Amino acid sequence: MPDDPIASELLIRGVRFPNRVLRSSIGGRNCNIDGSVTDVWKNFEKRFAEGGVGGIVSTTFHVDQSRLSPLQYPSIALPAHVNALRRYLPQIRRDGATPYIIQIGDPGYTTYSSLLPEDTDGLSSSDGIDLAFGYANRRRAMSQAQIETAIANYAAAAARAREAGADGVEITAAKGYLIHQFLNPGINTRTDEWGGTADKRFRFLECIMQAVRQAVGPDYLVGVRLSAVDHNQDPLALWLLRLPWHFAPVERRLGNDLAQMGSYAQRLEALGADFLHVTAGFGFPNPHDVPGRFPFEEVRMFFDSVRHLSGKASARAALAHLAPTGLLDWLTNIGWEAGRAVNLPYASAIRQRVGIPVICNGGIQDRATIENALQSCDMVSMARALIADPGLVGDMLALKPPRLAPCTQCNKCVGRTATSPLGCYDRTRFASDSAMVAAIAAFNAGDVPDSK
Ligand SMILES: Cc1cc2nc3c(=O)[nH]c(=O)nc-3n(C[C@H](O)[C@H](O)[C@H](O)COP(=O)(O)O)c2cc1C
Repeated sequence: MPDDPIASELLIRGVRFPNRVLRSSIGGRNCNIDGSVTDVWKNFEKRFAEGGVGGIVSTTFHVDQSRLSPLQYPSIALPAHVNALRRYLPQIRRDGATPYIIQIGDPGYTTYSSLLPEDTDGLSSSDGIDLAFGYANRRRAMSQAQIETAIANYAAAAARAREAGADGVEITAAKGYLIHQFLNPGINTRTDEWGGTADKRFRFLECIMQAVRQAVGPDYLVGVRLSAVDHNQDPLALWLLRLPWHFAPVERRLGNDLAQMGSYAQRLEALGADFLHVTAGFGFPNPHDVPGRFPFEEVRMFFDSVRHLSGKASARAALAHLAPTGLLDWLTNIGWEAGRAVNLPYASAIRQRVGIPVICNGGIQDRATIENALQSCDMVSMARALIADPGLVGDMLALKPPRLAPCTQCNKCVGRTATSPLGCYDRTRFASDSAMVAAIAAFNAGDVPDSK
């Protein structure tokens, strides 16, 4: 189609994106236990490049080898991780036809799982209790030395991403991960130079941004994934604050608002960020990041799988079995609903405050929604719609109807990400149980060895 806004190229810091739709981060258990990537991971990612997306943002690659979570997610915390990436990235990037951006992050206290309980899995900006996210009974404030190590980990990881042949890095300051734990006033209650004011809460991200830029040089693509509004008052996130909730100051109850995040966005631009990838909410999952249903049964499966790790994890799993499933499913779905381009108003508002490209994420699946989003943002990114149909973008660009049924935002894939092979678990989209299982197996297939 002439002048198709979706098909138009975009050049950011020397990287040429052939169209405006990125594959957003999708993580699954497709790597080795040490976090090195595998042929299963490579085949998974390659599928989206072949399906026509304009670029891929990876799942979170861990920057700290002592906090690998969920298990079998990828890591870039060690020099040895570069080798397998070097081997597989060219097949995904297809000589740069599909740029590949490695997202780097550290879950801090929201660490989901571990083989055995580990002290470092509870580290965060401040002490506190969170009944919903992470498995550690309490989160604990990092020391000055631990903060400095964490910053250095990000820089080293970014340098490795460049060495491995990735086109850029995305620092995740969203998702309730460690950087977000410093930014969010509900979590960060420090009174030293790392907290206490909006400026000081930003300092951790600022130091990481500076260290990463220094490690990769001025000519390398560096973006940041930001939560535009924290929504601490959301049902799940509510559990993260120390009670009594009603007596907490407003800022702690609500978290950062759009005005605050807009000013952080401007500071990131001044620090040399090349793009901002905008989502919303705190913690994964949350209804502003993955609009749709709360996948209660799948999350309960996950709770059961980590109940051995702490008193909190055990109590949480027990609670999830206390009442009939239907009742708990209904209760946990309060505040959750399906939606299209749910974060577009936020992404557009941030775009008005910065001069760098802004990527809009959350509930995007069809051409009309993408075209509308591109009127006020530079790119969009999609995750679940592409799990449902990895060829969706290619077909959209060729003006062909989608080949597969659309994503229903049931979020079963989200609930199962830490326990099961990655794929679509919405049985209503398949003709039979075995068809669904076959599709999931195909999504997780390794290379077939040579018969010779
Ligand atoms: C199975 C699954 C795994 C995900 N893993 C990550 C991740 O590792 N890092 C991240 O920033 N977002 C992750 N996300 C969030 C997506 O990147 C995206 O923000 C979210 O699904 C909303 O976009 P969508 O409506 O297009 O699915 C994941 C989403 C899904 C469904």
